[in-house]
Amino acid sequence: CGIFGYVGTESAGPIVYRGLETLEYRGYDSAGIALREDDADALSVAKRAGEVSALSVPDESASTCAIGHTRWSTHGPPTDANAHPHTDCADSVAVVHNGIVENHEELAEELADHTFTSETDTEVIPHLLEAAFDGNPSEEVIDENLNEESLGESASRADGGIATDGVSSRVATELRRGVESVTDRLEGSYAVAAVHTGADCIVATRQESPLVVGHGEDASYLASDVPALVEHTREVTYLEDGDVAVLQAGEITIYRDGAQVEPARSTIDWDADAAQKGGYEHYMRKEIHEQPTALRQTLGSRVDVNAGTASLDVDFPTGYLESLEEIQLLAMGTSYYAGQYAATLFESLAGVRATPVMASEYSYTGGRDPWRTLSVAVTQSGETADTLGALREAGAAGARTLGVTNTLGSSVTREADDALFIRAGPEIGVAATKTFASQVSTLALLAIAIGRERGDLSAAEAREHLEDLTGLPGAIQQVLDEEAQIRETAHEYADSDAFFFVGREYGHPVALEGALKLKEISYDHAEGFAAGELKHGPLALVTEETPVLAVLTEGSRPQETLNNVAEVQARGAPTIGVTSDDVAASSLTETFDVPDAGIFEPLVANVYFQLFAYHVANAKGRSIDKPRNLAKSVTVE
Ligand code: G6P
Repeated sequence: CGIFGYVGTESAGPIVYRGLETLEYRGYDSAGIALREDDADALSVAKRAGEVSALSVPDESASTCAIGHTRWSTHGPPTDANAHPHTDCADSVAVVHNGIVENHEELAEELADHTFTSETDTEVIPHLLEAAFDGNPSEEVIDENLNEESLGESASRADGGIATDGVSSRVATELRRGVESVTDRLEGSYAVAAVHTGADCIVATRQESPLVVGHGEDASYLASDVPALVEHTREVTYLEDGDVAVLQAGEITIYRDGAQVEPARSTIDWDADAAQKGGYEHYMRKEIHEQPTALRQTLGSRVDVNAGTASLDVDFPTGYLESLEEIQLLAMGTSYYAGQYAATLFESLAGVRATPVMASEYSYTGGRDPWRTLSVAVTQSGETADTLGALREAGAAGARTLGVTNTLGSSVTREADDALFIRAGPEIGVAATKTFASQVSTLALLAIAIGRERGDLSAAEAREHLEDLTGLPGAIQQVLDEEAQIRETAHEYADSDAFFFVGREYGHPVALEGALKLKEISYDHAEGFAAGELKHGPLALVTEETPVLAVLTEGSRPQETLNNVAEVQARGAPTIGVTSDDVAASSLTETFDVPDAGIFEPLVANVYFQLFAYHVANAKGRSIDKPRNLAKSVTVE
């Protein structure tokens, strides 16, 4: 889900609406906005099932403080009533929430006299806040604020109070205290933002769910992710678990364990344009085409080809790498397939046993020495709940942990012992593309660095792989230049019954990723298989209407795979192969060549599969950047 908030001097509705549009990749089955206006008795809330565009852009109004939400449903189907914001009975408090309140049923039992209007777990939060307000204002809060008022603004700020007019200040403090006490009682993960009729501020907090605040001159912003902030400000603070932020126009106060702390500011260094479509019809196509640039950023100053070395800013303890026995790659979705590619790289370049693990299935089983195990969480967003859960389990068992991510300030960077950035730039399309290439390349550099350190990889071998890696941007550009041909092929086969993708070795994760791309954006049945597995079952599904797409490049044992391709051809299936120069694949129905890139050729072949998926889905008019039922960042288990 995506959360956006604004408090400042301009009309808040249109700004929050725009913020939600930018965050829509995080969820898009319903959306809503709550506007607060001075002197109004109730908040004005508009919410609808459907994409943000189903909501009308709020008119310019006197409201300068608002919160909004774009939803990916967990509890309760996407209906108008279940859309956020949720309010208390009097519409005096509104709340947006990302995450799951696991004990919501138990909490709702305490609120028997409150009328619930949705089926969500979230709705308990505004009602609990309402109950906290009914029980209050406590003498303590009133006393504190009276003191603040009598002592004046500077004294109140030094004390961590909220310096506006007296009533607003009192309500703001009460709202902050209410959010603190209510969220203390929530079990599960959450990012929560709340507004109240009586205070010109937003109160927000998080627990295992991302939230970042943006500092403006006369305004303050709140968002689930930075792409929504960069058009307003580059100065941000990533909230930590348990932080409570109070946003007022141009001023953000952060409380940790009840005491005020100085916000740790970071500056975002990418352009606002990086998160825009820049003339492309879809983010996905733009991001496919950005791969050469993304890879140059990924590899950047980290590679010295002549010396055969890769340097990454990760300081392992002395002697750690030499004694390393196992690397676990914990990830989900596309990141899992990058982890699978990397596992083979670690085995062959670094001489370390490496295993990809679907993070949602992870458990640290006994019998291994945790200190000799490196558990690597591969996660573009740095926020995937399944991946973070596995990382915590590995850390608790004593393994050293490393987060490989695209997102500065994300949870994985705080929770892992070390973080390594893939530097791909913002990726907005729900279907991951450029981050896959940057993940594999970053992990390849790590495999080379570890292999060199342990003495398993000679300088000459390292030089060869580094040359191939630095050649990737050019090789991928050549594939991108062939988009017209791949579009034609995609259109020719778009109406097939199903699509199978096959490969071996490094070609296997690419086959799986190719099928994932196609199914998630075209909604067609697509499956990836280890090429050798075809004859053990899947062959029964092969007909003249099931094209088989094969990785036949270096690094994917092409000759053996060609035998499997011949088996499907004998059953009448059309075959589309991505081949290297030296592979004799003239019998295929269609072939696409990749330039020479050694064991990274399957990574280049993947770009053909991305374009194939894109053009099949586009021919069918699918919602490419926002496929049904999916979200880019899944922060629930
Ligand atoms: C979601 C996205 C996928 C992504 C996966 C893992 O399912 O739709 O595109 O690969 O999460 O995300 P992560 O941010 O951990 O790489």
